[in-house]
Amino acid sequence: MLILGIETSCDETGIALFDSERGLLAHALHSQIAMHEEYGGVVPELASRDHIRRVLPLIRRVMHQAGAALTDIDAVAYTQGPGLAGALLVGSSVANALAFTLGIPALGIHHLEGHLLSPLLAGNPPRFPFVALLVSGGHTQLMRVAAVGNYELLGETVDDAAGEAFDKTAHLLVLGYPGGPALAQLAGEGRADKYKLPRPMLEQMHKTGNLDFSFSGLKTAVLLLVRKEAPDTAARADVAASFQEAIVDVLVAKSLYALEQTGLNQLVVAGGVGANRRLRQRLDREATEQGYTVFYPEFEFCTDNGAMIALAGALRLGAGIGANTPEALRMQGSVSPTPDSAARTYAFTVKPRWDLSTSV
Ligand code: KG4
Ligand code: ZN
Repeated sequence: MLILGIETSCDETGIALFDSERGLLAHALHSQIAMHEEYGGVVPELASRDHIRRVLPLIRRVMHQAGAALTDIDAVAYTQGPGLAGALLVGSSVANALAFTLGIPALGIHHLEGHLLSPLLAGNPPRFPFVALLVSGGHTQLMRVAAVGNYELLGETVDDAAGEAFDKTAHLLVLGYPGGPALAQLAGEGRADKYKLPRPMLEQMHKTGNLDFSFSGLKTAVLLLVRKEAPDTAARADVAASFQEAIVDVLVAKSLYALEQTGLNQLVVAGGVGANRRLRQRLDREATEQGYTVFYPEFEFCTDNGAMIALAGALRLGAGIGANTPEALRMQGSVSPTPDSAARTYAFTVKPRWDLSTSV
């Protein structure tokens, strides 16, 4: 089964073609980072307009790379949410128009489901069930993943996401946008034990088992520190390293606790912050010491991409939970669509806010 994946939830246009037997055939990505850089953050209207410009040429490029024709596609999977409404609308309308034209299903995929399944694109994938740590620019969650479409929330951030904390702290250190990778790089040159920063909500975890996160206090602590010390270049590296260590400490401790609580022994780390080398280093060491195995997506599939959306679509269809549309059901051999129900199939909405545990 050949699935076209379309990701347009934020500032990356990602397209991919995934074959359920042969794996990923081709993928392409356009990042809008350079365009948003001068504003210090994503400008939603500019993001939507750029997705409009990029999406069709990227689809053509991917089809060409894979040597496939549009008529070979069996289903189109697209990010339906969460994300920027206008940006989501671009991918959703193209996906539904294409699927309507080809008479195939269009599957709305939850962006975070794409992230948490993305390690399955790698060579040595995890097996269900596993614990997933989702750490992106918009989300920080621990989930128990029992099967495709079966996600239980164990804990999430009550304020800033981990990536957001990286980006805001990088901004304080005048490191540009998006700041996560730049801050991580600077941290490599600094001393992580130079400044004592808070490890939010770790104490509560030990007392009550609470797996929620909170990063806004940490960001404020850095703000106060920067104001007080007015650090020079070397001291800024120490601030970056101390900040990174505080975040990593919290993420590692909560992940290990989630494994202990659930009795599972595999941890999947997904989302942009999953590209952080210090996080990987610490998790690899500490989780392995305790007998757990940690899985990451390939570096290029840590941040937003179309491959994870195509994969999620393929897995959902394979598991028989693709989408509740007549086309999807017909593919599963259940019903044949009536003209009326077929028309309804392609009436779509986007879900800028969408809870993953209700996505099935
Ligand atoms: O998953 P993603 O591409 O987009 C969202 O769905 O949010 O994640 C982007 C986030 C940004 O906040 C970025 O700064 C952060 O991931 N990020 C990193 C690193 N690479 C990307 N944060 C820390 N260290 C990194 N190496
Ligand atoms: Zn993402």
